[in-house]
Amino acid sequence: MKKVLINFAHPVKSRSKINKALCDAVKGIEGVTLNDLYANYPDFMIDTEREQRLCEEHDIIIFQHPLYWYSTPAIVKEWFDLVLEHGWAYGSMGKALHGKLFFQCISTGADSSSYQPAGYNEYTLKQLLAPVKATAKLCGLVWLPPFAITGVHQGLSADKIENHVNRYKHTIITLRDSLVDVHELSQQDELNVLPTKKEGAK
Ligand SMILES: Cc1cc2nc3c(=O)[nH]c(=O)nc-3n(C[C@H](O)[C@H](O)[C@H](O)COP(=O)(O)O)c2cc1C
Repeated sequence: MKKVLINFAHPVKSRSKINKALCDAVKGIEGVTLNDLYANYPDFMIDTEREQRLCEEHDIIIFQHPLYWYSTPAIVKEWFDLVLEHGWAYGSMGKALHGKLFFQCISTGADSSSYQPAGYNEYTLKQLLAPVKATAKLCGLVWLPPFAITGVHQGLSADKIENHVNRYKHTIITLRDSLVDVHELSQQDELNVLPTKKEGAK
């Protein structure tokens, strides 16, 4: 069983609908560690050694956050700037993250049709998340497409929230238990729907 680290970033969790629901749902899953970055570092004084140790202790690293200004909330950028040190995350001696799985779980206010070349946001989510993908690649992480929950501002019924929560849990457990072909998964646009389960897949 793989160990899963969720680095969660939401600056106002009390106002969160979807991310709070996702966090509440994954907290108790065996092998999952929830690391709430804004709660742990309200002053942005990130403990680099602690964060590096957490990464080393886990096999799958997830960054879960709302999309803010087509990017991550600020603390995720700060985390990248401080934690991904030369000689640890990259460079000839920096191999601490090599081979670990990596993906983002993001929520967006706007709906999926706006994240198309003809939509009002013009760019696809895949294009907007490219800097994070490039960062992951440089650090030797195995990048997977995002688990994306779009259209939160259109309103989320309790049924929809439950559906997203169940899919997120299913994605995490499937990856934790190595029940999916990771290469096949990396070709998809998003992780919300997984390919058919394969017995003993790595
Ligand atoms: C500062 C800020 C920036 C935002 N930027 C975007 C954005 O670029 N694109 C988008 O679709 N939604 C944007 N939103 C909406 C959030 O993504 C949305 O409220 C969030 O995903 C909902 O998740 P929650 O219920 O967990 O808060 C932004 C919201 C805030 C507060």
